[in-house]
Amino acid sequence: MQYVMKGGNPLVGEVTISGAKNAALGILAAAIMADETVTVENLPDVKDVSVLLSAFEEIGVLVNHKDRHTVQINGANIFSACADSSYIRQLRASYYLLGALLGKYHHAEVAMPGGCNIGNRPIDQHLKGFRMLGATTTVEGSKVILDAKELRGAHIYLDMASVGATINLMLAASLATGNTIIENAAKEPHIVDVANMLNSMGAKIKGAGRDMIRITGVESLHGSEYTIIPDQIEAGTFMMAAAVTKGDILVRNIIPQHMDAISAKLVEMGCEVVELGDSIRVVGRPSLTSCNIKTLPYPGFPTDMQPQMGVALCLADGVGTITESIFENRFKYVDELAKMGAEAEVKGTIAIFKGGKTLKGADLVAPDLRAGAALVLAGLAAEGITAIDNVGYILRGYEDFDEKLRSLGAEIRLAEDEDSLQKLKLKMG
Ligand code: EPZ
Repeated sequence: MQYVMKGGNPLVGEVTISGAKNAALGILAAAIMADETVTVENLPDVKDVSVLLSAFEEIGVLVNHKDRHTVQINGANIFSACADSSYIRQLRASYYLLGALLGKYHHAEVAMPGGCNIGNRPIDQHLKGFRMLGATTTVEGSKVILDAKELRGAHIYLDMASVGATINLMLAASLATGNTIIENAAKEPHIVDVANMLNSMGAKIKGAGRDMIRITGVESLHGSEYTIIPDQIEAGTFMMAAAVTKGDILVRNIIPQHMDAISAKLVEMGCEVVELGDSIRVVGRPSLTSCNIKTLPYPGFPTDMQPQMGVALCLADGVGTITESIFENRFKYVDELAKMGAEAEVKGTIAIFKGGKTLKGADLVAPDLRAGAALVLAGLAAEGITAIDNVGYILRGYEDFDEKLRSLGAEIRLAEDEDSLQKLKLKMG
C-alpha cells in the first residue's frame, strides 16, 4: 500500500485527535488483569491496537467491540500465560503482557517484542525490575519467561526513564505484596494515564508523572470504565502539518499542557500558536526560522516528533540541528528527504539541516511509523507528486490519517496496488 499525494495546498480547518495509541496499549494490558469486565473508551482504531486485541483473544480474553472506539475486555477466562503468536511478534507493546500476566498469574511467557526498527531497544530494565519483585527471568530463544512464587514490593531504580519499563513495573507491582517504589520513572502523559486506569481498577499508585512512583500492592483488581487521553503525538503531527504547509489548523480534543514542548518550538520557528481550552490553533507563516532541538524524556521534546520537526527544518531559513538522545537509529528518514532535494547530514546522533529548500515530489519509502508520518508532511509541503511506500507503518499509529488530512484540504489518496498508484499519479499530475 502506498500514499500518493500532490503537495502545495496549505492545510486549513479543524481536526479531532483520537485516543493515545501508546496509552491504549498499556491500558488494554491493565484491563486483562481483572476478572471483571473493563470498558475502555476513546480507543484509537489503529493497527497496533487491533493486533494487541487479536493477541488477547488467542489466550482467552473476551473482547467485545461496543463501537469503533469502545471495547469491553474480560480477562476472567485466560487459559494461557503464554503469548507467542505472529500477532505478538509484530508489536513492541507485547511486552506489557509480561507485567500484566506476571502480576495476575505469577507466570508469563511472551515472545520478544517487535515494533519499529529505530534502534537496539533492549528490555533489561523491565527484566531487572521483575527480578527485584521476586521473579526469575529467562530468555529462551526469542521468548521471555517469567516465574514467581510470590511477588514482593521492592525499591527499583531505573537506569534510564524508560516508558515501557515504568508501565510494565506498575502493572506487576499493583498485584505484588507490599510497597514498591519506582525511581527515575518515565513521566510521559501515557504513564499517568495507565496509572489512573489501574487506580480506577482498585490499584494504589501515587506519584505517576513524577520521578518517583509509589505503589501499594492490592490483592486483586476489579472492573472499571475508563476513557483514554488524546494522542499527544498525533496532535503534534497535525500542528507540524500547519507549520510546513503554511496552513491554519485547529487541533481539537487535546490536553494543551501535553503539547508544551512542541508549541514552544513552533513559536520559536515563527508560527502562531493559540491555546483555546482543549484545542490548539497553529497558524503557519510564509517562512519558518530554523532552531535546534534535542529529544528528551517528557517534558522534553518527544523523540516521536523529531522526524516531523526534521521536515520543518528542511524548509526553515538557516541551519538547524536535531540531537536524538533516546533512540540511536531514528534518522533513516533523512535519506528519503534528500530524494526530495533536502540538504541534511547525519553525524552520529545529530542531524544538521541546511534549510530554505523547496522540496520536490519523489518516490519514498516510510522507514518507521513517525518517520512515515513525517514524509507525508514533506510530500504535502512539496511541489509535485510524492508516493510513499510501506504505509503499513503509518497505519499502526494514526487513525484515518489520510482522511483527516483530506478534510484539511490535502490531496492524498491510498493506493492499494501498483496499478491504482499509477492511475492516481496520472490523475493528480
Ligand atoms: C515507548 O517505547 C513508545 N512505545 C515509543 O513510541 C516512544 O518513542 C518511546 O517510548 C519514548 O517515548 C510504546 O509506548 C509502545 P523506552 P519504549 O523504554 O517503551 C532504552 C511510537 O512511534 N531502554 O522509554 O520502547 C531504550 O533503548 C513509538 O509510537 C533500555 O536501554 O521506549 C531507549 O534508548 C516508537 N533498556 C530508551 O531507553 C530498557 O529496558 C527509552 O526507551 C528499556 C529502555
